[in-house]
Amino acid sequence: MRIEVYFTPHALAPNELAGRTVAVVDLLRASTTIAVALAAGAKEILPAVSTEEALRVAQNLERDQVVLAGERKSVRIEGFALGNSPGEFTPEAVGGKTVVLTTTNGTQALLAAQGAKEVVVAAAVNFTVVVQRLRPALEATGDLAILCSGHDRQFALEDAFAAGRIVKVLLPEGGLRRVQVNDGALAALEIARHFGEKWLRALRASRHGQELATLGFSDDLKVCATQDTHPVLPIYADRRITAHRLAPEG
Ligand code: MLT
Repeated sequence: MRIEVYFTPHALAPNELAGRTVAVVDLLRASTTIAVALAAGAKEILPAVSTEEALRVAQNLERDQVVLAGERKSVRIEGFALGNSPGEFTPEAVGGKTVVLTTTNGTQALLAAQGAKEVVVAAAVNFTVVVQRLRPALEATGDLAILCSGHDRQFALEDAFAAGRIVKVLLPEGGLRRVQVNDGALAALEIARHFGEKWLRALRASRHGQELATLGFSDDLKVCATQDTHPVLPIYADRRITAHRLAPEG
């Protein structure tokens, strides 16, 4: 069994994720935003690499069916209806609609995971359902990759912490002796051990968390740090992210 963590999409070799089960994490804030938007009834999320691409994609859709969303330097892109604060993605704003989303790092990580066997969007708000999906996938294929989005192309503490939380709960009985891990997974585990289950402490300790707080997005940190408030399973396939029906437990 193999579990690997990559701290940024730039750390990936070409085709490294091809055919694998992948969890993509951008705790602050894109993966949280995606889970919240789908929980609010968005039909689908289309990740776009740039503002221009987002506009192009939106132009091909019925005007009243599409919402443009995204940020640069954490602030809503001019002319877009929504930024990247999860709280903006209410049923009134996105219910039944296609959300075209472009963010600095999160959507780039998603796009880098194209070609994987399955791509699950992981956050704290949907932590348990994500783990419930990843566990049988790991048991069936013996392989899991966790791709952190990072921050401004660099390692991001909050994503590493989230990755470590996932690795920790997925370790089989017998722990590290029974699974092959890369150094990324080992480091993520250490970070998860350091913060325990205190998501908010980890977010507040991170550079990105501190920047968001300075910009007035402290409430977003709380939303992004609260576990299992939005139990939706966003799966990225065929260039779109949709909420997968959850199998009943047991
Ligand atoms: C990103 O994709 O880089 C983040 O979601 C940025 C943000 O917090 O808005």
